[in-house]
Amino acid sequence: MHFSTIFAAFAVVGSALAVDHTVRVGGQTATDLVFEPNNINATKGDTVTFHFWPKNHSVAQSTFAKPCEPMDSGFWSGYVATASGVAMETFMITVNDPTKPIWFYCTQGKHCQSGMVGAINAPATGNTVDKFVTAAKAATVMTPPSSVAGTGGMLMNSTTMMPSGSAGSPSSSASGAAASATGTGAASALEINKNVAFTGLLGMFAYLMM
Ligand SMILES: *[C@@H]1O[C@H](CO)[C@@H](O)[C@H](O)[C@H]1NC(C)=O
Ligand SMILES: *[C@@H]1O[C@H](CO)[C@@H](O)[C@H](O)[C@H]1NC(C)=O
Ligand SMILES: *[C@@H]1O[C@H](CO)[C@@H](O)[C@H](O)[C@H]1NC(C)=O
Repeated sequence: MHFSTIFAAFAVVGSALAVDHTVRVGGQTATDLVFEPNNINATKGDTVTFHFWPKNHSVAQSTFAKPCEPMDSGFWSGYVATASGVAMETFMITVNDPTKPIWFYCTQGKHCQSGMVGAINAPATGNTVDKFVTAAKAATVMTPPSSVAGTGGMLMNSTTMMPSGSAGSPSSSASGAAASATGTGAASALEINKNVAFTGLLGMFAYLMM
Protein backbone atom coordinates (compact mmCIF):
# COMPACT_ATOMS: atom_id res chain seq x y z
CA MET A 1 0.00 0.00 0.00
CA HIS A 2 1.42 3.37 -1.01
CA PHE A 3 1.75 6.24 1.42
CA SER A 4 -0.71 8.27 -0.60
CA THR A 5 -3.23 5.46 -0.31
CA ILE A 6 -2.74 5.25 3.43
CA PHE A 7 -3.08 9.00 3.66
CA ALA A 8 -6.32 8.89 1.64
CA ALA A 9 -7.66 6.18 3.94
CA PHE A 10 -6.91 8.36 6.99
CA ALA A 11 -8.54 11.34 5.34
CA VAL A 12 -11.74 9.34 4.96
CA VAL A 13 -11.61 8.19 8.58
CA GLY A 14 -10.97 11.81 9.61
CA SER A 15 -14.08 13.09 7.89
CA ALA A 16 -16.07 10.27 9.46
CA LEU A 17 -15.29 11.74 12.88
CA ALA A 18 -17.83 14.51 12.28
CA VAL A 19 -20.33 14.34 15.12
CA ASP A 20 -24.07 13.95 14.76
CA HIS A 21 -25.86 16.04 17.40
CA THR A 22 -29.36 15.14 18.47
CA VAL A 23 -31.99 17.80 19.06
CA ARG A 24 -35.33 16.80 20.52
CA VAL A 25 -38.24 18.69 18.94
CA GLY A 26 -40.94 18.89 21.62
CA GLY A 27 -40.44 18.44 25.33
CA GLN A 28 -41.06 15.64 27.79
CA THR A 29 -44.80 16.21 27.52
CA ALA A 30 -46.76 17.43 24.48
CA THR A 31 -47.38 20.77 26.20
CA ASP A 32 -43.65 21.48 26.63
CA LEU A 33 -42.96 23.69 23.64
CA VAL A 34 -39.17 23.47 23.46
CA PHE A 35 -36.18 22.22 21.52
CA GLU A 36 -33.83 20.19 23.77
CA PRO A 37 -31.12 21.29 23.96
CA ASN A 38 -31.92 24.74 22.61
CA ASN A 39 -28.32 25.50 21.73
CA ILE A 40 -25.48 23.22 20.69
CA ASN A 41 -21.84 23.66 19.75
CA ALA A 42 -21.08 22.09 16.41
CA THR A 43 -17.97 22.14 14.25
CA LYS A 44 -17.61 22.16 10.48
CA GLY A 45 -19.04 19.04 8.91
CA ASP A 46 -21.06 18.04 11.97
CA THR A 47 -24.66 17.10 11.43
CA VAL A 48 -27.64 17.96 13.58
CA THR A 49 -30.54 15.53 13.53
CA PHE A 50 -33.93 16.67 14.75
CA HIS A 51 -36.12 14.00 16.37
CA PHE A 52 -39.81 14.89 16.57
CA TRP A 53 -41.96 14.27 19.62
CA PRO A 54 -45.76 14.81 20.12
CA LYS A 55 -47.75 16.22 18.82
CA ASN A 56 -47.04 18.05 15.60
CA HIS A 57 -43.95 20.21 15.20
CA SER A 58 -41.54 21.46 12.58
CA VAL A 59 -38.16 23.11 12.39
CA ALA A 60 -37.51 26.08 10.13
CA GLN A 61 -34.45 28.29 9.89
CA SER A 62 -34.96 31.94 10.83
CA THR A 63 -32.75 34.85 11.78
CA PHE A 64 -31.88 36.43 15.12
CA ALA A 65 -33.72 39.61 14.04
CA LYS A 66 -36.93 37.78 13.05
CA PRO A 67 -37.16 34.61 15.16
CA CYS A 68 -40.54 33.42 13.86
CA GLU A 69 -40.12 34.15 10.15
CA PRO A 70 -38.30 32.02 7.58
CA MET A 71 -34.79 33.00 6.52
CA ASP A 72 -34.31 33.35 2.76
CA SER A 73 -33.16 29.94 1.47
CA GLY A 74 -33.29 28.56 5.00
CA PHE A 75 -33.93 24.93 5.87
CA TRP A 76 -37.42 23.57 6.56
CA SER A 77 -38.48 20.15 7.76
CA GLY A 78 -42.19 20.47 7.10
CA TYR A 79 -44.62 19.25 9.79
CA VAL A 80 -43.93 15.94 11.47
CA ALA A 81 -46.82 14.63 13.54
CA THR A 82 -46.73 11.80 16.07
CA ALA A 83 -49.52 10.97 18.52
CA SER A 84 -47.16 9.28 20.99
CA GLY A 85 -43.45 8.51 21.11
CA VAL A 86 -40.76 9.72 18.77
CA ALA A 87 -41.68 10.00 15.09
CA MET A 88 -40.02 7.75 12.49
CA GLU A 89 -39.15 10.81 10.45
CA THR A 90 -36.06 12.79 11.30
CA PHE A 91 -34.61 15.88 9.69
CA MET A 92 -30.84 16.28 9.40
CA ILE A 93 -28.84 19.36 8.50
CA THR A 94 -25.10 19.81 8.06
CA VAL A 95 -23.13 22.61 9.70
CA ASN A 96 -20.88 24.14 7.06
CA ASP A 97 -19.77 27.31 8.83
CA PRO A 98 -19.50 27.09 12.62
CA THR A 99 -18.65 30.80 12.87
CA LYS A 100 -22.20 31.71 11.85
CA PRO A 101 -24.94 30.97 14.40
CA ILE A 102 -27.91 29.06 12.99
CA TRP A 103 -31.32 30.06 14.39
CA PHE A 104 -34.53 28.05 14.06
CA TYR A 105 -38.15 27.87 15.25
CA CYS A 106 -41.23 25.65 15.23
CA THR A 107 -43.86 26.97 12.84
CA GLN A 108 -46.85 25.25 14.46
CA GLY A 109 -49.61 27.51 15.87
CA LYS A 110 -48.15 29.76 18.57
CA HIS A 111 -45.20 27.47 19.37
CA CYS A 112 -42.60 30.01 18.28
CA GLN A 113 -44.17 32.75 20.40
CA SER A 114 -44.20 30.27 23.29
CA GLY A 115 -40.42 30.16 23.03
CA MET A 116 -40.06 27.04 20.89
CA VAL A 117 -36.87 28.21 19.18
CA GLY A 118 -33.27 27.10 19.23
CA ALA A 119 -29.81 27.66 17.87
CA ILE A 120 -26.60 26.05 16.74
CA ASN A 121 -23.43 27.86 17.80
CA ALA A 122 -25.21 30.79 19.43
CA PRO A 123 -22.60 33.00 21.12
CA ALA A 124 -22.28 33.12 24.90
CA THR A 125 -22.49 36.91 24.87
CA GLY A 126 -24.32 39.39 22.65
CA ASN A 127 -26.94 37.59 20.53
CA THR A 128 -27.39 34.72 22.96
CA VAL A 129 -29.98 31.97 22.70
CA ASP A 130 -31.72 33.39 25.78
CA LYS A 131 -32.18 36.71 23.99
CA PHE A 132 -33.46 34.80 20.96
CA VAL A 133 -36.09 33.06 23.13
CA THR A 134 -37.14 36.42 24.60
CA ALA A 135 -37.40 37.92 21.10
CA ALA A 136 -39.50 34.96 19.89
CA LYS A 137 -41.92 35.39 22.79
CA ALA A 138 -42.34 39.04 21.80
CA ALA A 139 -42.78 38.32 18.07
CA THR A 140 -45.98 39.66 16.54
CA VAL A 141 -45.52 37.81 13.24
CA MET A 142 -45.20 34.05 12.71
CA THR A 143 -44.88 32.80 9.15
CA PRO A 144 -44.09 29.25 8.03
CA PRO A 145 -41.76 28.83 5.03
CA SER A 146 -43.31 28.40 1.61
CA SER A 147 -40.59 25.98 0.45
CA VAL A 148 -41.18 22.23 0.27
CA ALA A 149 -40.68 20.00 3.30
CA GLY A 150 -37.10 18.79 3.49
CA THR A 151 -35.54 21.90 1.96
CA GLY A 152 -31.94 22.48 3.03
CA GLY A 153 -31.55 19.14 4.81
CA MET A 154 -32.39 15.47 4.68
CA LEU A 155 -35.81 14.30 5.71
CA MET A 156 -35.42 10.66 6.61
CA ASN A 157 -37.84 7.95 7.54
CA SER A 158 -36.08 5.36 9.66
CA THR A 159 -38.56 2.68 8.60
CA THR A 160 -37.62 3.15 4.96
CA MET A 161 -34.02 4.38 5.15
CA MET A 162 -32.54 1.18 6.55
CA PRO A 163 -31.12 -1.22 3.97
CA SER A 164 -32.95 -4.52 3.63
CA GLY A 165 -31.40 -7.75 4.88
CA SER A 166 -29.49 -8.17 8.14
CA ALA A 167 -29.75 -4.52 9.12
CA GLY A 168 -33.54 -4.84 9.01
CA SER A 169 -33.98 -6.50 12.39
CA PRO A 170 -31.85 -4.13 14.48
CA SER A 171 -33.82 -1.37 12.77
CA SER A 172 -37.20 -2.62 13.90
CA SER A 173 -36.04 -3.38 17.45
CA ALA A 174 -34.48 0.07 17.66
CA SER A 175 -37.75 1.65 16.50
CA GLY A 176 -39.63 -0.31 19.13
CA ALA A 177 -37.24 0.88 21.81
CA ALA A 178 -37.46 4.41 20.50
CA ALA A 179 -41.23 4.47 20.80
CA SER A 180 -41.16 3.66 24.51
CA ALA A 181 -37.83 5.06 25.60
CA THR A 182 -36.98 8.54 26.85
CA GLY A 183 -35.52 11.17 24.55
CA THR A 184 -31.93 10.23 25.22
CA GLY A 185 -32.55 6.51 24.96
CA ALA A 186 -34.44 6.82 21.73
CA ALA A 187 -31.83 9.03 20.19
CA SER A 188 -28.99 6.69 21.03
CA ALA A 189 -30.89 3.69 19.68
CA LEU A 190 -31.30 5.48 16.37
CA GLU A 191 -27.72 6.64 16.38
CA ILE A 192 -26.38 3.13 16.93
CA ASN A 193 -28.15 2.08 13.73
CA LYS A 194 -26.60 4.93 11.87
CA ASN A 195 -23.14 4.14 13.23
CA VAL A 196 -23.45 0.47 12.37
CA ALA A 197 -24.38 1.38 8.81
CA PHE A 198 -21.56 3.87 8.62
CA THR A 199 -18.97 1.44 9.99
CA GLY A 200 -20.11 -0.99 7.32
CA LEU A 201 -19.53 1.63 4.68
CA LEU A 202 -16.05 2.39 6.03
CA GLY A 203 -15.24 -1.30 6.06
CA MET A 204 -16.26 -1.55 2.44
CA PHE A 205 -14.13 1.46 1.62
CA ALA A 206 -11.13 0.00 3.42
CA TYR A 207 -11.58 -3.18 1.42
CA LEU A 208 -11.62 -1.23 -1.83
CA MET A 209 -8.38 0.52 -0.83
CA MET A 210 -6.42 -2.71 -0.42
C1 LIG B 1 -20.09 25.65 23.88
O1 LIG B 1 -18.71 25.73 24.14
C2 LIG B 1 -18.37 26.77 25.07
C3 LIG B 1 -16.86 26.84 25.14
O2 LIG B 1 -16.30 25.56 25.30
C4 LIG B 1 -19.02 26.46 26.42
O3 LIG B 1 -18.72 27.46 27.34
C5 LIG B 1 -20.52 26.39 26.23
O4 LIG B 1 -21.13 25.99 27.43
C6 LIG B 1 -20.89 25.40 25.15
N1 LIG B 1 -22.30 25.51 24.88
C7 LIG B 1 -23.08 24.47 24.76
C8 LIG B 1 -24.51 24.77 24.47
O5 LIG B 1 -22.69 23.31 24.89
C1 LIG C 1 -49.75 19.17 11.48
O1 LIG C 1 -49.86 20.56 11.49
C2 LIG C 1 -50.01 21.13 10.20
C3 LIG C 1 -49.98 22.64 10.34
O2 LIG C 1 -50.83 23.09 11.33
C4 LIG C 1 -51.33 20.64 9.60
O3 LIG C 1 -51.47 21.15 8.30
C5 LIG C 1 -51.29 19.12 9.54
O4 LIG C 1 -52.54 18.65 9.07
C6 LIG C 1 -51.02 18.54 10.92
N1 LIG C 1 -50.88 17.10 10.80
C7 LIG C 1 -51.56 16.25 11.56
C8 LIG C 1 -51.34 14.79 11.30
O5 LIG C 1 -52.30 16.63 12.45
C1 LIG D 1 -42.44 6.25 6.92
O1 LIG D 1 -42.40 4.87 6.61
C2 LIG D 1 -43.54 4.13 7.09
C3 LIG D 1 -43.31 2.67 6.74
O2 LIG D 1 -42.99 2.50 5.40
C4 LIG D 1 -44.82 4.67 6.46
O3 LIG D 1 -45.93 4.01 7.01
C5 LIG D 1 -44.92 6.16 6.76
O4 LIG D 1 -46.05 6.70 6.09
C6 LIG D 1 -43.67 6.89 6.29
N1 LIG D 1 -43.79 8.29 6.60
C7 LIG D 1 -43.67 9.21 5.65
C8 LIG D 1 -43.84 10.62 6.09
O5 LIG D 1 -43.41 8.94 4.49
